[in-house]
Amino acid sequence: MLMKPLLIGNLKSRFPIIQGGMGVGISRARLAGAVASEGGIGIISTAQIGYDEPDFEKHPIEANLLAIKKHLQKAKEIAKGGIVGVNIMVATKRYADYVKAAVEAKADVIISGAGLPVNLPELVRGGVSKIAPIVSSCKAASIILKLWDKKYQRTADFLVIEGPKAGGHLGFHEEELGTINEESYDQEIHKIIDVAREYEDKYKQNIPVIIGGGIYSKEDVEHALQLGAAGIQVGTRFVTTEECDASEAYKQAYLACNKEDIRIIKSPVGMPGRAIWNPFLEKVTKEKEVITRCFHCLEHCNPIDVPYCITRALIHAVEGNLDQGLIFCGENAYKLKEMSTVKEVMRDLIV
Ligand SMILES: Cc1cc2nc3c(=O)[nH]c(=O)nc-3n(C[C@H](O)[C@H](O)[C@H](O)COP(=O)(O)O)c2cc1C
Repeated sequence: MLMKPLLIGNLKSRFPIIQGGMGVGISRARLAGAVASEGGIGIISTAQIGYDEPDFEKHPIEANLLAIKKHLQKAKEIAKGGIVGVNIMVATKRYADYVKAAVEAKADVIISGAGLPVNLPELVRGGVSKIAPIVSSCKAASIILKLWDKKYQRTADFLVIEGPKAGGHLGFHEEELGTINEESYDQEIHKIIDVAREYEDKYKQNIPVIIGGGIYSKEDVEHALQLGAAGIQVGTRFVTTEECDASEAYKQAYLACNKEDIRIIKSPVGMPGRAIWNPFLEKVTKEKEVITRCFHCLEHCNPIDVPYCITRALIHAVEGNLDQGLIFCGENAYKLKEMSTVKEVMRDLIV
C-alpha cells in the first residue's frame, strides 16, 4: 500500500507523516521546520517551550507564550511553505492562553492530547488553525467527537490515535498497558476509524485518521495504512536526527539505551509515561526531591505532593544534564543505533 499526500481541509502535505510534538524543548523550530521542509508536518511542542528564555524562571507562562510565536515563525521560515503546527497538552495550566497564542501565530494545525480538548473549537474560532484531538481509545474518540458535534456543530479536521508504544505521557492506565497486545489494539483502531467515518458522513467532510506510537520501519507504516490510517505520527525516530532540538547528550542516551532500560514510569502527575531508566529515576523512587519553585506547567500537580518537579527534570534532560534528567522515549528507542538527518528518517518511512 502506497502513501498518498495528506489533505486536511485546504492544507496539503506531500507526505502523510506528522512529526509528533515533543516537550520540553525536544521539538521546537529546528526539528519541526526541517520535517515540514521535507514534505511532512512539523509539530512544535508548547510544553515549557520557553525554558531557555531569560525570564522563564520568574515568568514561565509569559515566556512560553512569547516563545510559541517565536518558534512558529522560525519554523515557518525553515519550512519554506511547508506545514507547521503545535502540540498543546490539555493538561497545561492556562491551556486556553496557549491555544490563543498559537492561533494568533497562525499555527497551521493544533494537536491536543493528555486530556480531552473539550473547548478547543471555541478557542480557535476565527483563526486558520486546523484542529485534532489525540485519542487512545474508541471511548475517548466517541466522547470528544460527540461533544464537538453537540456543542459546536462541527467535527475534527483530523484525528490522531496514539497507541501504547508511544513516548512521553501515555493515554492508558498502567494496568491496561500490560494487557494490550498488537491484535487487540488493531481492533481498537478499527473502532476509532469507524467513529471518525460516522462524523465524516454527518459533516460531508474528510477526517483523516493518523496513527502513532512505535512506528519505526516501512513495515510499521504499511501496517498503519492497511488498518485504514491516512498517515502516521512519529516521535522517537526524529530524536536522533541532527536537526532535533535536544542536546547531543540526550540523543546519545537514545543511541546507548537497551530494551531493558526502557520502562513505564509513573509521572509526578499520576499519568504513566515511558522513559529511559537512569540514576535520576532510581533516586526519585527512593526519596522525594525538595521542590523550591513551581513552573506552573500542569493542572493537577501539587508541588507538595509530587516526588520531583517534572519541568525541572525535563529541562535537565533536554540540556544534557542527564543524571538529573527525565528522558522520555518511545518503546522502540533502543533500536536506534546511529545519528541521522530528518531527510534520511523521512526516506526510511516513505512507502
Ligand atoms: C521525548 C518525547 C516527548 C514527548 N512529548 C509529548 C508532548 O509534549 N505532548 C504530546 O502530546 N506527546 C508527546 N510525545 C508523544 C509524541 O508526540 C508521539 O506521538 C509519540 O512519541 C509517537 O510514538 P513514537 O515515539 O514511538 O514514534 C512525546 C514523545 C517523546 C518521545
